[in-house]
Order: sequence, then structure tokens, then C-alpha cells
Amino acid sequence: MLVSGAEILNKAHKEGYAVGAFNINNMEMLQAIFEAANSASSPIIVEASEGAIKYAGADMLYAMTKILSEKYPHIPVALHLDHGTTVESCIQAIRAGFTSVMIDASHDSFEENMAKTKRVVEIAHSVGVGVEAELGRLMGIEDNIEVSERDAVLVNVDEAEKFVKATGVDYLAPAIGTSHGAFKFKGEPKLDFQRLQDVKRVTDVPLVLHGASSIPQNVREEFENTGGDLKGSKGVPFEFLTEAIKGGINKVNTDTDLRIAFMSQVRKVANEKQSEFDLRKFFNPAKALVTSEIVKRMEVLGSAGKI
Ligand code: G3H
Ligand code: 13P
Ligand code: ZN
Repeated sequence: MLVSGAEILNKAHKEGYAVGAFNINNMEMLQAIFEAANSASSPIIVEASEGAIKYAGADMLYAMTKILSEKYPHIPVALHLDHGTTVESCIQAIRAGFTSVMIDASHDSFEENMAKTKRVVEIAHSVGVGVEAELGRLMGIEDNIEVSERDAVLVNVDEAEKFVKATGVDYLAPAIGTSHGAFKFKGEPKLDFQRLQDVKRVTDVPLVLHGASSIPQNVREEFENTGGDLKGSKGVPFEFLTEAIKGGINKVNTDTDLRIAFMSQVRKVANEKQSEFDLRKFFNPAKALVTSEIVKRMEVLGSAGKI
């Protein structure tokens, strides 16, 4: 059933687990997410970036999600706008039927971020849609980073408290050292778990981890064995996800892992069967690997078995 993101995340916040938010651009990814949710009995958040909306259309993404939510009525699902850059972009997603939006004004000043978020909250709440905002910059942190530099990049705990109180935002993404993509850490993976716990204590709302892909070894190998290049890639290890959930994370954004898994299988078929051009022969194994990786993730996040 299509529900508000707040409904899914408030339950996760109360019970201490996290729900995967999986990025989509096409039907196959969406089918894989639903199939995984069905097999793991897990709630899901399906998310689409502005780039995904440009590629597939907000109406199309909504329609496909709605149809699958009716096919699997027992699965709580929210359709979420990922990294909405403007108030207008959030309004358009809400109009298209999205049940959750992120206003990402983290690159603006703190005051500007608050003002935009407040505006989106007013609009979204009037129609029962949940809202996410972000504080700090998504950036890997190094062991030897200066304290002042770390403070400039990562979420500020006092600001987080003020922000949540002033805006009424439903869930918050605090920057604690992750970044998007396949190359998250130069040295050993490192996240600021203490800062995360402090933000949770002062805000007491569901928290969101962006840039949470893990680049699991088997997926990397599938990609590299077909000639793909992921040299130097490093993700967030599963143990870090577990630690982050203990620290208060309830929504775990995952895109890169799914892209690599999907494309590894497309590459494999292309390499092994030079004369194949039936696109279903490429996409079926791609969907199957994405589904099994999502199921594994649902188990790590603790959302498996929650419906
Ligand atoms: O946060 C970024 C997501 O991975 C979406 O990426 O803007 O390439 O669709 P995209
Ligand atoms: P990854 O690049 O780690 O998958 O992060 C995705 C994300 O944060 C989407 O908002
Ligand atoms: Zn993100």
C-alpha cells in the first residue's frame, strides 16, 4: 500500500530499525525492489532523483509504483523525491503523487535551508506527505582531518536541534562522513558515530543515511570479472550500517550498489553472448541480482520481517 514516508519511518524510529530507500530510474529496478520486499516481508521506500524524473517522468514513476503497490497490497511503500533542489521541484513531485519529498538546501546558508524546508513542510503536511531535509555536506572524512575542518563539513548538533524544532521536518539527513557514489573513502572507512548519536538525542526524529552503498565484494567481482573497472572503490561496510542504525539511522539510501549489480549482469550477457540482442535476456539476470542484493540489505537493516 502506498503510504506516507513518515508513517514508515516513524515506526522504524520507534522500533529501532532502518528501511532501505532504493533509487529507481526504470521499471526493472522497481520490480526488483518490490520482489525483494515481498520475499523479505519488508517495508520499502522507492526514491527518484530529479535526474530520474527527467529520464522517466514523475507521472510514469508514480504510475508504475502505484500499480505495483496494488499488486502487493501488504507491502507498505512510500514514493520519495530524492534531493529535491527547489521548493517547486517538491511541489511537482507532490502533485504527481509522491508521498515523501526531500528538500535538499544543504548547500544554502543554514537560515535559507530552514526557510525552504519550513515552506515545503507547510505544503507537504497539508496533504499528508512526509518531508526530509539535510544538514552538513556529504563528504568522506579522513583520519587526520583537523577538528575545525570536520566541523565545517559534518552536521552541527546544535543546529540540528534548532532546525528540527523550527521547521517541523519529519526526518533529517545529518552528514556524518558518507558520500555518494562508489569512491567514498580514500583510506579506511570512517564515520562520526558519536555525532550521529548526539543528533539523535537532541532531535528524536528518524534519521537518514545518504551515500550508504556498500559495494559488496561479490557485486564488485561480478562487475570486474566482465572487464568493468571499479579500482579504488570503497563503500560503507555492513558493520557500519549496523552501528549507524544503533545510533539512530532509520532510512538507508542505496543507489550505487544497485546500479553496479544491474550493470554487472548486463555486461556479463553482452560479453558471453555476442549475438544476443533480446533485451529481456540482459535484464532478467540483472533484476535477479538486484533483488537478491536488496534482500541481503533488508536483513542487515532490520526491516526484513517487519510486515
Ligand atoms: O543521490 C544521488 C542518487 O544516487 C541519484 O543519482 O542524480 O544520478 O539520479 P542521480
Ligand atoms: P549511494 O551512492 O551510496 O548509493 O547513495 C545513494 C543516495 O544517497 C541517494 O540519495
Ligand atoms: Zn543522497
